[in-house]
Amino acid sequence: MSSTALPGGTWTLGDLTVSRFGYGAMQLAGPWVMGPPADRDGAVAVLRAAVELGITHIDTADAYGPRITNQLIREALHPYPADLHIATKVGATRDEQGGWPPARDPQSLRRAVHDNLDSLGLDALDVVNLRLGDAEGPRPGSLAEALGTLAELRQQGLIRHLGVSNATPEQVEEALTITPIVCVQNLYNLAHRHDDDLIDRLAGRGIAYVPFFPLGGFTPLQSSALSGVAARLGTTPMSVALAWLLHRSPNILLIPGTSATAHLRENAAGAGLRLSDDDLAELDEIGR
Ligand SMILES: NC(=O)c1ccc[n+]([C@@H]2O[C@H](COP(=O)([O-])OP(=O)(O)OC[C@H]3O[C@@H](n4cnc5c(N)ncnc54)[C@H](OP(=O)(O)O)[C@@H]3O)[C@@H](O)[C@H]2O)c1
Repeated sequence: MSSTALPGGTWTLGDLTVSRFGYGAMQLAGPWVMGPPADRDGAVAVLRAAVELGITHIDTADAYGPRITNQLIREALHPYPADLHIATKVGATRDEQGGWPPARDPQSLRRAVHDNLDSLGLDALDVVNLRLGDAEGPRPGSLAEALGTLAELRQQGLIRHLGVSNATPEQVEEALTITPIVCVQNLYNLAHRHDDDLIDRLAGRGIAYVPFFPLGGFTPLQSSALSGVAARLGTTPMSVALAWLLHRSPNILLIPGTSATAHLRENAAGAGLRLSDDDLAELDEIGR
């Protein structure tokens, strides 16, 4: 399958063409995203299968593991195919309990960019998302100093494109007064629809919206309406949830995570499911 044959076709992040069906590598790091990985060879196999399927957008962060997910990506795929684009995140670190304390002072951000370059084996990072808020979600507050630091690193050629993650709509607006951004990566899925307006506004500006936890993350999506639609269409709730996101807006890019090659293939096929207007209306009610 090529990236143009994957469900959803392609999207352009700045000057980078990516498959709308991408891959989120976070869970490869191991239980609760702290190493060691449950199955190292299996993780390498999933990453290689993703590229073989035509996926050209992989989402990661040096905080995953920490470092382990990036090391796996490098081991599996370096030297990278020219059309593969890796998006990473900075702005959070890890503590010994597996927590995600913020690290958004200029020095920590510079170190994080260099750590990502080092662990991925790159001279420049394709996309860097500034992760805001905390593990509970977005928090209000200015991002000027943090994003300004990353914009400087972009000027120096270490970063190609910037995005924000775990951001409030106000922070997205503030970001756009500081530097161009190509994507917003926030929690969104069939059951969590708080960013509906933001998605539509970003679509009008040609900015991608990349939902994290598209399948519910650590708590799989559960809904009788979702299961009902899936049963009627003879497929799985995961396929319906991914297909719904692709139908929801053309600027939505998928980064579902999995540590199983079989699930990766199932998701790539399932996301191409055609949903009728009646299906979409029924699914729309879930998060209302
Ligand atoms: N910016 C942020 O703050 C932030 C936060 C969280 C995540 N992210 C990004 O978003 C990506 C996606 O999030 P996520 O991986 O945590 O959650 P997700 O994509 O919503 O769900 C992943 C979970 O679904 C399971 N799964 C996937 N396909 C399946 C299938 N076909 N059948 C049954 N189970 C299936 C996986 O288990 P198996 O491994 O068993 O398949 C895994 O436990 C991450 O990889 C990361 O890159 C970003």
